[in-house]
Amino acid sequence: MPQIQPTINKQDIVCAETPAPPCGFVVFGASGDLVRRKLFKSIFQLYTQNLLNDNFYLLGCGRTKLSDEQFRELAKESVRNNSDFISSQDMNVFLEKLYYIDGNYDDADFYQRMRKRAGGLNKKYKGIENIVFYLAVPPFLYATIVDQLKHAQLSCSAEAQKNKNIRLVIEKPFGHDLKSATQLNEHIGHCFDESQIYRIDHYLGKETVQNILMFRFANLIFEPIWNRNYIDHIQITISESIGVGHRANYYDKSGALRDMFQNHMLQMLALAAMEPPVSFEADSIRDEKVKLLKAIRPVDIKTINDNFVRAQYSPGKIKAEQVKGYLDEKSVAENSKTETFVAARLFIDNWRWKGVPFYLRTGKAMKAKDTEIVVYFKSVPHSLFASVGLDEMPPNVLVFQIQPEEGMSLSFQAKRPGSKICMTTLDMNFNYKNVFLIEMPEAYQRLLLDCMLGDQTLFTRYDSVEASWKLLEPVLQAWQKDEAASYTYPAGSESFPQADDLIESDGRKWRNISVD
Ligand SMILES: NC(=O)c1ccc[n+]([C@@H]2O[C@H](COP(=O)([O-])OP(=O)(O)OC[C@H]3O[C@@H](n4cnc5c(N)ncnc54)[C@H](OP(=O)(O)O)[C@@H]3O)[C@@H](O)[C@H]2O)c1
Repeated sequence: MPQIQPTINKQDIVCAETPAPPCGFVVFGASGDLVRRKLFKSIFQLYTQNLLNDNFYLLGCGRTKLSDEQFRELAKESVRNNSDFISSQDMNVFLEKLYYIDGNYDDADFYQRMRKRAGGLNKKYKGIENIVFYLAVPPFLYATIVDQLKHAQLSCSAEAQKNKNIRLVIEKPFGHDLKSATQLNEHIGHCFDESQIYRIDHYLGKETVQNILMFRFANLIFEPIWNRNYIDHIQITISESIGVGHRANYYDKSGALRDMFQNHMLQMLALAAMEPPVSFEADSIRDEKVKLLKAIRPVDIKTINDNFVRAQYSPGKIKAEQVKGYLDEKSVAENSKTETFVAARLFIDNWRWKGVPFYLRTGKAMKAKDTEIVVYFKSVPHSLFASVGLDEMPPNVLVFQIQPEEGMSLSFQAKRPGSKICMTTLDMNFNYKNVFLIEMPEAYQRLLLDCMLGDQTLFTRYDSVEASWKLLEPVLQAWQKDEAASYTYPAGSESFPQADDLIESDGRKWRNISVD
């Protein structure tokens, strides 16, 4: 398809990036996968971009016995494996900011030792303004650690209140259903104020996801048509080309609905469909997201099979490589019914969106990695070109491309040079990396910086988490009781008949999954 490349007007670039204040980061589960794959790299990037304060330290905690030196070696290897262009001077200065202390998460004495160690570091690194406790541990440990922090007077005790900037970062998953999420919210709420709690949904740290709000609310031309009068439907896809791999143990108790749909997909839906917030302040945006989630039509258990499709991958081929089926993966229960694919049709019962379907799908072991939000506008009401066979004009399509590359495209019809009536679809396309000529920042980099700065905009508030679990409660119940249909798809598929039926029964089609 012909493409039009945008150019940047340098005078129009408005950037505001505030560096972090002096900060201490206490990371539980510091020997784990998340820290090694994401956190070290992101903090290192903040350092090389002068966004980390000179007075920053990271104190890793965990059961694994490691000296500071061994912990630094772990970090060095991880940064080397995940970043390009590292100067040894940068690396050395960064590593010197890392420390480690071992102990058991349920041992009160461990927290006293940790508190003493952090106290010493607070003295060494002058002017520490905030302490961030980061829970990079399996979710069953969240409550234990939070209780111990409270017991050690490190959360919202009178002493801790003296330092108002104590923060708690919690990883996903946040609960596994409405009840557990509500209980966890209440539990944490006894130890930390909501203003101290940062629930991570790392999709919200991605540039294109943040761009949805800028695009919608910093341009005049789109908002007037962002509604049921002009938009036919919206599709949201998160397709992954990898299977469950080493996460099978966790995944088999979770599934695609809990792992991807409840958080990333519904958060993206909320950003695409919410009303304009009164300001760009965290709570203004989060208020609108919650309102939107609450406006999604409740799922009727009687029609669950009409609106939700679940499936599991069977053996197949991804990019010519033979892949085993989900049931053959290590640590997956025999006869497991856990879904690795979900597709859904949702409606938002409010003035703006009444009658507009939102089609969402996410799956593992699919044909390619592809995450996008696609807005299909309505077709023109009457074709002037019917006499030359153009009865139906293709609709305008706006794409927010989130993975594997971040970018946007808008397609429209235009005359092709040559004969008098000759039309073609043009794609106005921009790719962040090519246009801005930079490596896209890791989503965690944005989120960690915001957390140090005390900006909760990109973190999920308690009511948003509960609203999304509430919406999905009937689906979880039906699937648990096995009342709903369940299908399979060969690994490497782009789609399969039952997922296609969900959208084709409305006379629409899934957009092709782009090959990465
Ligand atoms: N990995 C990712 O890409 C990713 C992505 C999104 C969200 N998350 C979330 O981030 C958190 C951490 O994920 P992760 O992949 O880093 O987890 P992980 O590697 O399985 O565990 C992190 C650390 O927690 C401790 N731990 C593990 N199992 C434990 C147990 N049974 N009892 C006590 N301690 C245990 C271990 O440290 P010690 O043995 O040293 O104590 C381990 O190194 C989880 O909530 C996960 O859902 C991870």
